[in-house]
Amino acid sequence: MTPLSPTTPASDGRAGRALATLAGLSAELSSARSLETSIERILETLRTTLESQECALWMHTPQGLRRAWGSGLGHFTEAQVRAALTSADDAGAPAELRVVPIVLGPRRLGALALRLERVPEPEEELLLQALANVLAPELAHAERSRQLEVEVASRTMEIERGRRFTEKIIDSLPLGLYVIDREFRIQSWNRKRETGMQGVQREEAIGRTIFEILHRQPSEMLRREFEDVFSTGRMQEYQMESISSGEARTYRITKIPMRLGDGPVTHVITIGEDVTDWREAQERFSQAEKLAAIGQLAAGVMHEINNPLATIAACAESLGYRIEDLERSGVTLAPETHDFLGIIDNEVVRCKQIVDGLLEFSRPKQPRKERVNVNEVVERTLFLLKHHVRFKKLTVETSLDPLMGRVPHANAEQLVQVFMALLLNAMDAMGDRGLVRIVSRVGATPAEGAVVEVIDMGHGIARSEIGKIFEPFYTTKGPGKGTGLGLSICYGIVQEHGGRVEVESVLGQGSTFRVILPVVES
Ligand SMILES: Nc1ncnc2c1ncn2[C@@H]1O[C@H](COP(=O)(O)OP(=O)(O)OP(=O)(O)O)[C@@H](O)[C@H]1O
Ligand SMILES: [Mg+2]
Repeated sequence: MTPLSPTTPASDGRAGRALATLAGLSAELSSARSLETSIERILETLRTTLESQECALWMHTPQGLRRAWGSGLGHFTEAQVRAALTSADDAGAPAELRVVPIVLGPRRLGALALRLERVPEPEEELLLQALANVLAPELAHAERSRQLEVEVASRTMEIERGRRFTEKIIDSLPLGLYVIDREFRIQSWNRKRETGMQGVQREEAIGRTIFEILHRQPSEMLRREFEDVFSTGRMQEYQMESISSGEARTYRITKIPMRLGDGPVTHVITIGEDVTDWREAQERFSQAEKLAAIGQLAAGVMHEINNPLATIAACAESLGYRIEDLERSGVTLAPETHDFLGIIDNEVVRCKQIVDGLLEFSRPKQPRKERVNVNEVVERTLFLLKHHVRFKKLTVETSLDPLMGRVPHANAEQLVQVFMALLLNAMDAMGDRGLVRIVSRVGATPAEGAVVEVIDMGHGIARSEIGKIFEPFYTTKGPGKGTGLGLSICYGIVQEHGGRVEVESVLGQGSTFRVILPVVES
């Protein structure tokens, strides 16, 4: 290390050197060097100037008096320095230890401690005192800076903790979320946006423009959407269909304006939420409402039709008797007369069946109710179908869970009707050959405790048609082959039992009809 002061002629003696050194020390302190380095250089210069063996700066810290900087041997203990500071005559302080306290107003900051085996000259005393005076504000300032540094560090940590907490919240949301600024640059990108086939890593997205990252939509369209929110300050919301994850999903996209100050919109938050399940539930709900309305209407109409039907049937019957009387009295009637009467009779019976079916759908009768084992109902239905010419040709596979509970307040006859309708539909969908599986299993909750699936490998149902199949009279079967009442009756019965019917179907591959009923422990 080079001495700080300009070299002083040796003839001037220690006192002269001391005075010259002082000028150098002040220059050192006002230099651009860090205080740490400056103090080390000052102590070294002081040690050589005063020909001392040790020169150190001790500081008062919350942990006690500490040797903060030093040059030379460094043998003095805290107790010795403290003793020298409190009283010069104290026996605890060694004779070669010289201490000069560094104080600023009422505050004791520390002390300069020197090992000097001679009595210092007055100029040297002056130098030490002047140095202590010069160092005092510097050290106080440094101490304040250090306190501020600690404070800033702790505040920064606090802010960082808060930021991470907010980030964690945003990452935990089951939503895709990102924020762009006025230049369309991505400022925030949550973890959910990293998943899926369109997922992009946060590190890759942040700082880039949204057009570089999202390619699914034309960038002009995307820009227009954002510009709209920036200029109007209004939230925008729309739905989007996507098959990027492999299956068709519906997303609700919301663009929310954000302002950092009181002025114009500075950022736009975009949230993407998968609402497929919600929408399906909505559709199921509106379907149920629609069917209920149809049911009410049908009940009213059928009631009106029932009476004229009964009249027609009675008139046809009387006509039959009249014709018999006429024939007995020798009158010859046109040959079609009997055929016409037969047609009237058949058609009236057919109408009656339709009316009864519709009434069943709209308000299933309240027959005897008991606890019913669903597995037994399935077995009974299969037993009845065993004699059906076409059904016999199918392969039927059953897998019935013996742990199934019993459905309370149920009517076994009606439930047979349900499974019968489902199995006949399966048969119709497959032609004469194929495999139908019937699987029963225990559901997740008592309210949905019995699940029976009828799975066929038939022609399936188009997505666009699925919403209609429970409507009365909806049929794709030729005239005279189907009335379109089977499923609507199933729906009415299962609903009346506190359950529901679900359907999954893939065109050309087959369908699964799922009946879900409440149970009690078996
Ligand atoms: N398992 C199935 N596979 C394919 N399509 C089906 C299946 N079940 C029902 N469907 C479709 O739903 C329509 C309505 O069924 P629903 O049972 O209500 O009436 P239907 O079978 O046509 O006549 P009905 O049952 O009154 O004799 C059917 O015509 C058919 O298009
Ligand atoms: Mg049917």
